[in-house]
Amino acid sequence: ALKLLTPQDLAGETVLVTAGPTREEIDPVRYITNRSSGKMGYAIARAARLRGARVTLVSGPTCLPVPRGVELVRVGSAVEMREAVLPRADGAGIIFKAAAVADYRPTVRASQKLKKGKDDLSRIELERNPDILAELGRLPGGRVLVGFAAETDELEANATAKLSAKNLDLIVANDVTREDVGFDVDTNEVRLFFADGRRLDLAKMSKFELAGELLDQALALKKQKTG
Ligand code: CTP
Ligand code: CA
Repeated sequence: ALKLLTPQDLAGETVLVTAGPTREEIDPVRYITNRSSGKMGYAIARAARLRGARVTLVSGPTCLPVPRGVELVRVGSAVEMREAVLPRADGAGIIFKAAAVADYRPTVRASQKLKKGKDDLSRIELERNPDILAELGRLPGGRVLVGFAAETDELEANATAKLSAKNLDLIVANDVTREDVGFDVDTNEVRLFFADGRRLDLAKMSKFELAGELLDQALALKKQKTG
């Protein structure tokens, strides 16, 4: 019924969304992760599907129900996320990179559980993960690339630096020091920074409503790009 009331303005469009954290295993019972419920990415996937898009959702571990009609690809680590995302980028017209990707992974994963008396657990050697979004930004093609930036300080400077470094069309920035919006909750309040220098401060709203706003902006950018 919801679909009947929703304009199908994304029909014919393929939208790729990443959501949730990644999980970088230390041993079979321990891992390093980032804070992310996946709610923002899942809301985007659901809203895009309701508007008629073909939607693929590449998701790290979350507790959320799979949005109806969305193709879900479950991944664990950042490396797995990269392997799921890059081959699907070519077919996507709009990409939302909402996942909170771990920047580092343990250099080795122990196949057996490490024991605190026997193994040295006080130090874990880490190595850098690939920056999936930066790789997407280097691909040729007219797709629209939307990144996310969760910041505790210097929001504008940090977000706009990522916008240009990763060659994005739009970055969605939020202040994660606030408890009423962002992490874990169903509401968000974000600032948008566009590649052409425009900016837009959005009011506090539900993540589903915000998903609709972000899809409006991405669709407008897509139309600009493809003429
Ligand atoms: N991102 C990614 N791959 C990574 C790290 C980040 O694709 N290895 C993407 C995120 O999905 C997000 C954007 O890049 O859309 C910004 O992520 P963020 O963690 O804020 O930026 P970083 O470039 O990792 O910088 P830092 O964590 O040092 O602030
Ligand atoms: Ca990061």
